[in-house]
Amino acid sequence: MGPRAARLPASTALARLAKRITRRTARIGVIGLGYVGLPLAVEFAKEGFSVTGIDLDLARIAGVNRARSYIPDVASEDLRRLRRANRLRATTSFETLGRQDAVIICVPTPLRKTREPDMSYILSATKEIARRVRRGQLIVLESTTYPGTTEEVVLPALEAGGLKVGKDFSLVFSPERIDPGNPNYTTRTIPKVIGGVTPQCTRLATALYGSVIQQTIPVASSKVAEMVKLLENTFRAVNIGLVNEVARICHRLGIDVWEVIDAARTKPFGFMPFYPGPGIGGHCIPSDPMYLAWKVRVHGSEARFIELATQINSGMPEYVVERVARALSDRRKALNGSRVLLLGLAYKKDVNDLRDSPAFDVARVLSERGARVSYHDPCVPSVILNGARQTSHPLTAATLRHAECVVILTNHSQVDYDLVLRQARLIVDTRNQYGALARRPGHVVRL
Ligand SMILES: NC(=O)c1ccc[n+]([C@@H]2O[C@H](COP(=O)([O-])OP(=O)(O)OC[C@H]3O[C@@H](n4cnc5c(N)ncnc54)[C@H](O)[C@@H]3O)[C@@H](O)[C@H]2O)c1
Repeated sequence: MGPRAARLPASTALARLAKRITRRTARIGVIGLGYVGLPLAVEFAKEGFSVTGIDLDLARIAGVNRARSYIPDVASEDLRRLRRANRLRATTSFETLGRQDAVIICVPTPLRKTREPDMSYILSATKEIARRVRRGQLIVLESTTYPGTTEEVVLPALEAGGLKVGKDFSLVFSPERIDPGNPNYTTRTIPKVIGGVTPQCTRLATALYGSVIQQTIPVASSKVAEMVKLLENTFRAVNIGLVNEVARICHRLGIDVWEVIDAARTKPFGFMPFYPGPGIGGHCIPSDPMYLAWKVRVHGSEARFIELATQINSGMPEYVVERVARALSDRRKALNGSRVLLLGLAYKKDVNDLRDSPAFDVARVLSERGARVSYHDPCVPSVILNGARQTSHPLTAATLRHAECVVILTNHSQVDYDLVLRQARLIVDTRNQYGALARRPGHVVRL
């Protein structure tokens, strides 16, 4: 639904905002300029809106204001153009919030050590808005969170000063669905789900997002929109859990799981391929389902698929180490004392994001079992591994020959896999990098 199709609100203050959206004169504030907030701020600014980003991280503020991008999907050239046109700026001061027509919250939602939601970022951003909320404003929460957050946590704080949602201001949840590093789908081209606290809130936010995003999907409430995001990421976590279990079953039965998946995916309907690996990582897939599981527990029930998938996925690093130990043992070598080179530490291909990467668990378990662990990752020059700083070993014939075993954990594109194949003594390939070879040499072991 585009801005013209949306029926816009009657209340004067809100109708004024609707007009400002259509004319691109609305001022937009984005709280949190990370993987989600910065690309979104840039899209609004490109469309002609005046955008102010607010973040606590001074390096990120300087990055935006000096047009030096720190997010791979945002070009510094775009920042330069928008800075010159005076359409984008960044600040650490929340004072600007009162001047914004729309405020979009894109702060982190990690887990606490107890695996419970860490709501502190949303709470603190909400508090800053609540101090300054005024008639006519549209507030949007984009951070992934449990169903009910917008109505149970954000709304009471915003109404505490006496303003009323739907009449004085609008409140909406709209989940972000970007896939960093994916050139085929971007903020602008991924359909945007929008759920307001009132139908009027939904209409206003649909008009705003419809001005920069190709397709908007209004839903009945903020709770529905919150649940949509959790369904999507739980779907991924559960299916990855399933395929990881199938990989272990196939290994036991002497069946090539990769061939099974390739054949299964030829079915034109009813099947979607997921692939096994050393575990799940990143800011979203390991954490988001836990937000739902927590909320379900609060209601006295349990999310059994989530618990099971978490258990299977978090057991994969240990399983990979077991396979390394077995592969060495088959060659009359012990894991204890062996040099193991890990290829790829980032949680996924061609990104430098290390958050929750299962590579760290693989490294830890290897080291607990006496292996001497080093790594090569073209996207990660240096890192703390097993409590000590290590730098990425250059990928040379000597490095590869020096290791008793090379373990491919993430198959970045820029690695010379032919060199690895020629020089490594033993390769444990958790990503099927060598799947396409006509005949696999005996020194390559796949998951
Ligand atoms: N990264 C993804 O691929 C992705 C995709 C979809 C949804 N999400 C969700 O979007 C949200 C943001 O994720 P992200 O990856 O952009 O996180 P991020 O860590 O890259 O960025 C968050 C930014 O918020 C800032 N911040 C923290 N507290 C703040 C506060 N009180 N005021 C102002 N700024 C504050 C941080 O300094 C940081 O720059 C999370 O809920 C995440 O689950 C992320």
